[in-house]
Amino acid sequence: MPLNSAANSSSAKRVAVIPGDGIGTEVIREAVKVLKAATSGRRTQLEFTEFDWGAERYLSDGTTLPPEAVETLRRDFDAILFGAVGDPRVPSNKHAADILLGLRSKLDLYVNLRPVELIDAGLTPLRDRGPNDVNFVILRENTEGLYVGMGGQFQRGTSHEVAVQEDVNTRKGVERIIRYAFEYARQHNLRRVCMSDKSNALTFGHELWKRIFSQVKDEYSDIESRHLYIDTLVMELVRDPGQFRVIVTCNLFGDILSDLGAQLAGGLGLAPSGNIHPGRISLFEPVHGSAPTIAGKNLANPFGAVLASALMLDHLGMEDRAEALRKAVRTAVRERRTTADLGGTLGTREAGDWLAEYVTKNRA
Ligand SMILES: NC(=O)c1ccc[n+]([C@@H]2O[C@H](COP(=O)([O-])OP(=O)(O)OC[C@H]3O[C@@H](n4cnc5c(N)ncnc54)[C@H](O)[C@@H]3O)[C@@H](O)[C@H]2O)c1
Repeated sequence: MPLNSAANSSSAKRVAVIPGDGIGTEVIREAVKVLKAATSGRRTQLEFTEFDWGAERYLSDGTTLPPEAVETLRRDFDAILFGAVGDPRVPSNKHAADILLGLRSKLDLYVNLRPVELIDAGLTPLRDRGPNDVNFVILRENTEGLYVGMGGQFQRGTSHEVAVQEDVNTRKGVERIIRYAFEYARQHNLRRVCMSDKSNALTFGHELWKRIFSQVKDEYSDIESRHLYIDTLVMELVRDPGQFRVIVTCNLFGDILSDLGAQLAGGLGLAPSGNIHPGRISLFEPVHGSAPTIAGKNLANPFGAVLASALMLDHLGMEDRAEALRKAVRTAVRERRTTADLGGTLGTREAGDWLAEYVTKNRA
């Protein structure tokens, strides 16, 4: 279902929209509204096509990720805008695993990009810290580590049971995310990269991380590099987050760190993420889940989805439009034109309307 009138424009970028479940559908509706406002009348247009993959579809006909989905996405689209998946009616979360983890692995989206930017000092739980102190990017390896699903259970449910979960680290996987971190730092003029692992205890898998980091860093002598064990890094992130600009780490540590980062910058409602394979179709989503308890009530904060849309515009080479979205969100936060989680009084739709109007009025 095309959502944009510019569907046939020759310079259109094609966006697959997967709203998913719960508040995913509400925040993505607002993100698409703001994207349309930001690109209206521009040379490069966005062409949106919506897919109904989520709990409703799974419960009605058993479909999670259709068999042809990955090929269709690769062939016909430039980017994916994703809401969230998860529904109390599907306690196994099967559809969510198939759709989101399936897309991350089948599209080989090996970079999980999570910018952490504090817009207003009042939003961080840290005392006496402001926007200059909390401004860094977490790059999480997104396809390997403990999340590959290798392992098993033996004598399950008995007093002798054993559970094994393998931590898979390949030279190719580790090297490409570390290299991406240095390239990202260079491209964004962020002069510091910190790699974090637990190589003192995980002496096989994380020794590989440490060794490859020390080899790759020599090729980037213009960038300051640092290695910290993960336990030291979490302490330092709370004590003095201003030390960090780019953090690169494995799948598990990145998952945990990025929720810490989200809280340092104002909570889940504001946090965006990109699941990226450079130069290929990539997926952009807010960090939060489907939040069933607030779904359908016009309470969800759409800013994380709008900031994820800005990451998508960066990926599509539309950096000035991305900046327009970021500027709108920064202004809204400073002027308290926000949903209740950030101290404002607007609903999801009204917050989206405010951003759309702002980008329309402030068109460069
Ligand atoms: N990427 C994803 O699709 C994704 C990520 C995380 C969780 N989930 C799924 O979402 C479901 C709910 O998970 P959860 O409750 O642990 O996490 P959640 O992120 O959905 O919600 C956690 C808390 O944060 C609040 N919150 C989250 N997003 C918000 C927003 N935009 N505005 C205002 N408040 C917001 C919620 O009210 C809730 O109290 C589960 O099924 C889970 O598996 C999906």
